[in-house]
Amino acid sequence: MFNALERHNGAMNAPQKRVILAVTGASGAPYARRCLAALVETGVEVHLLLSKTAVELVKDELGITLGSTEVWAERLLGKPTDRVIVHRVEQYHSSLASGGMLVDGMVVIPCSMGRLGSFASGLSRDLIDRAVEVTLKEGRKLVLVPRETPLSQISIENMLKLSRAGATILPAMPAFYTHPKTLDDAVDFVVGKVLDQLTISHSCFPRYGIANHESRATNHA
Ligand SMILES: Cc1cc2nc3c(=O)[nH]c(=O)nc-3n(C[C@H](O)[C@H](O)[C@H](O)COP(=O)(O)O)c2cc1C
Repeated sequence: MFNALERHNGAMNAPQKRVILAVTGASGAPYARRCLAALVETGVEVHLLLSKTAVELVKDELGITLGSTEVWAERLLGKPTDRVIVHRVEQYHSSLASGGMLVDGMVVIPCSMGRLGSFASGLSRDLIDRAVEVTLKEGRKLVLVPRETPLSQISIENMLKLSRAGATILPAMPAFYTHPKTLDDAVDFVVGKVLDQLTISHSCFPRYGIANHESRATNHA
């Protein structure tokens, strides 16, 4: 297991941004993998957490056996990195459990309905819950990417409660005005919207605007 504080104080020099990326057991492991890659590509220091079910879904949906935490980031990215610090969810003795650790924001992608309930109730059952609790209490950016359909009234009420507490609810809903050609394009759209919320510039999708519209209109003329 990486020693989070040692890694943080050691190899990484003045990162532009520091973001907590939590992955929970909703369908959508490709969103998590792409989000991790995009954050690393843009030079962000990423603090990575995966729930037990998320680890299983990474195997189911991506065909990746994560193994021990030391190799999670490398296996997800397909290459080594020194920009990702992995934390275990049962490890409350982590920098993420305290508001003293300065972070620019946190994203939970994908976010299970069970987690929404846990976050909304302040249960703090593990380090993911605790990091969300800290992010909210410190008034920092929190982006939740729920993946479920249809939605129960309970889930909708939990989202409303979290939104009122300051979280951004960003459902995994790809758009089609960007004319996605592949599933990766659709995944990139959602990930790009997450990065927008964290004010991280990216090229995950083309920006819709007058130029796009005019060029399509011209093509169709
Ligand atoms: C194959 C599979 C797919 C699942 N997909 C979803 C989903 O899309 N959304 C959801 O809210 N829960 C989904 N679940 C249920 C969650 O994994 C379950 O509620 C779990 O307790 C979530 O725990 P976690 O948030 O700690 O990962 C799925 C479970 C499995 C096994």
